[in-house]
Amino acid sequence: MKLGTPPQPVDPYPLYESLRKINRVYESTTLGAFAITGYKEVSAAAKMPSMRNGTRGFTKRREDWEQHDALRLLLRAMVTLDPPEHTRIRDFAASLFSPALIKQMRASIERLADRHLDDLADKASGGTVVDLVKTVASPFPVSVISEILGVPDEQGMMFYDLANDWTRVWGGGGYSEEELARADVAVMELRGHFEEIFKERRKKPQDDLISTLLKATDDGQLSDEDLMALSTFLFISGFETTTNLISMGLYTLLENRDQLALWRNKPEITPGAVEELLRHGTPIAGTIRLTSETIQLGDKTIPDGRLIFLMTAGANRDPAQFTDPDRLDLTRSEGPHVSFGGGAHYCLGANLARMEAQVILPKMINRFSEIDVAGVTERRTATGLQGFEYLPLQVKE
Ligand code: HEM
Repeated sequence: MKLGTPPQPVDPYPLYESLRKINRVYESTTLGAFAITGYKEVSAAAKMPSMRNGTRGFTKRREDWEQHDALRLLLRAMVTLDPPEHTRIRDFAASLFSPALIKQMRASIERLADRHLDDLADKASGGTVVDLVKTVASPFPVSVISEILGVPDEQGMMFYDLANDWTRVWGGGGYSEEELARADVAVMELRGHFEEIFKERRKKPQDDLISTLLKATDDGQLSDEDLMALSTFLFISGFETTTNLISMGLYTLLENRDQLALWRNKPEITPGAVEELLRHGTPIAGTIRLTSETIQLGDKTIPDGRLIFLMTAGANRDPAQFTDPDRLDLTRSEGPHVSFGGGAHYCLGANLARMEAQVILPKMINRFSEIDVAGVTERRTATGLQGFEYLPLQVKE
């Protein structure tokens, strides 16, 4: 088994099931690593305070990591930090990314959703085939996070391509040298663009997150490198996965027309329906941890210094937790999924992502009476990301 190496199988669930059948905590002796596919075991491991970030350990296996801009900035991103650094940055970011801010964003999210759906309707008029990913699934979350941060709207989608080049190396390993070289260039460019935005905002602060981060930097709460790492990471994490939730969510509904009809008829199921799409599709298939002491997980004793792959997508389809787990059931109520991870690194943007999906998906299925896949789709191949690169649709209002 090759863990953390793209391209991942388009349908990874049979692999998770076979691993789970051998052991819910599966040991790969060749890699010296463990793949966890059981729901209880993934939830427990994510919450263990002694667990360290695995991407960090995995990335640092490469001796020349410090010579690569893409890897240096990745290892400053909060998701790869360990305490006490992580605690300092997480507490700060959580204070900004408050539930109140997310609630305030509702009206803007509705407005941006309508704008992107108008664009879809225009492009699709007369039966023209449109790509959901390019028209809605990526530009919508990009415009939401751009508005929160204060990234000028027209620049958001330009950064999107740079961000995609950078995230190729976020898995810790399994990328080619060419991909790493592209990621280095992308990070240099991204840094340049963000420096420009910082300069502008220093001259003329606005009511946005970047202006707040700049103030905290001037007050000495954040270093210049914290500022760059936090701005770029919040920007990218704000859309990279939500894009998958929207594209995979819609596709799954089109494959389960009874559930699509149910949602159209019962708008009150929206919050639960989005949770089920998050469980069923798991936009990030897994995360990596490194043990910092000997731990007991399932029937395995795992020594210090081992990589642990928390396969959240496997856990979300564990039959011990979810009845008939491969079935999409928008009214399911069997407890929380683990798509947003758990423990200290639990997704900071979970409520924002939920709100975006709760707004765009019902708007889309209610506005368009006919939605059909119109051609050959293309799945994403970047490590761990479960969504579409290309999803051609024909829609009718
Ligand atoms: C469907 C959408 C999303 C999914 C499935 C998702 C999933 C995740 C997961 C699994 C983690 C934990 C990674 C780990 O444990 O190593 C995480 C962390 C994080 N997410 Fe999300 N995310 C989503 C949307 C967002 C959005 C919209 C934001 C907004 C900025 C965001 C910001 C973050 C941040 C800042 C972290 C790092 C937290 C930390 O290290 O303390 N995410 N996300």
